[in-house]
Amino acid sequence: MKHLLSLEALSGADLRAILNRVADFKRNRTTHAKPLLGQTWALIFSKSSTRTRVSFEVGLRELGANVMFLNASDIQLGRGEPIKDTARVLGRMIHGAVIRTFAQSDVVDFAAYAKIPTVNALTDDEHPCQILTDIFTFEEQRGESITGKTVTFVGDAACNVPVSWLWAAARLGFTLRLAAPKAYWPDEAIVKRASAGSALPWSGYSADQVVERLSIGAGMLELLTDLNLAARQADLLYTDVWVSMGKESESTQRLKELTGYQINADLVKLAKPNALVMHCLPAYRGKEIDEATVEAHADTIFTEAENRLHTQKAIVAWLVE
Ligand code: CP
Repeated sequence: MKHLLSLEALSGADLRAILNRVADFKRNRTTHAKPLLGQTWALIFSKSSTRTRVSFEVGLRELGANVMFLNASDIQLGRGEPIKDTARVLGRMIHGAVIRTFAQSDVVDFAAYAKIPTVNALTDDEHPCQILTDIFTFEEQRGESITGKTVTFVGDAACNVPVSWLWAAARLGFTLRLAAPKAYWPDEAIVKRASAGSALPWSGYSADQVVERLSIGAGMLELLTDLNLAARQADLLYTDVWVSMGKESESTQRLKELTGYQINADLVKLAKPNALVMHCLPAYRGKEIDEATVEAHADTIFTEAENRLHTQKAIVAWLVE
């Protein structure tokens, strides 16, 4: 049985198998096959969502399924019922689950105990559906593969979105530059896992280092504190909120420490002339990106949002094939 719990768990061939289906789902939105006819899928969400919730509800219905939305605080999970018990109950009643929660172990445990196809719709560790969508959108808009290109992420480089980008770079063979203060670089354990087996084994962050460049699987990872250096000749500039869901108590400190790590017109000028600017949304204007840059790149950014629908259909079709 297949699940989408993380990009780390997938191979490059798996990622391509999903990405190769997306354009067909987009082109033939009303006429494609309905592999979920007769099935019921549940969305189980412990965090807020606009794009993920709506795109999965619409997409699963268009694939033929009945869909139920379960706010985790409305079911016994919110009163402390263990995830493994919730999973064993739902696994006997429904055919697939899409879960947005905090701990990665919750989606892993749900999949193991429910024994039904399970999708990570965002955890604290990864946001795999978003990054698959972003890669499809990059290749759709540019008309060429992301392999060999340079993606620059600016902002909180330790959160779920850049970590999923990191695994995508390792699997699909592109360079990922992460521009952030050192306290917002990814956890060392993740970087070590990604670089395992490379020709130049990586030994960990050193105290005074402001640039790290290392080999990760088929790709490269560059960690920088200087966002201008990171943006130079990039093919894609990408950012996400400075205060992820669950980090609200750190809001004041994060806004202070991440100030300046913003995508704006000055930064865009340093990238390639045909560079794309993307944001997984919601966007906080004046913080990780400015208003003028959102509006200048709105066509790409809102196509990216729409593509959540088409990409997630491809993910679910791949899971149940
Ligand atoms: N990008 C994203 O996951 O959006 P939502 O939080 O609105 O689902």
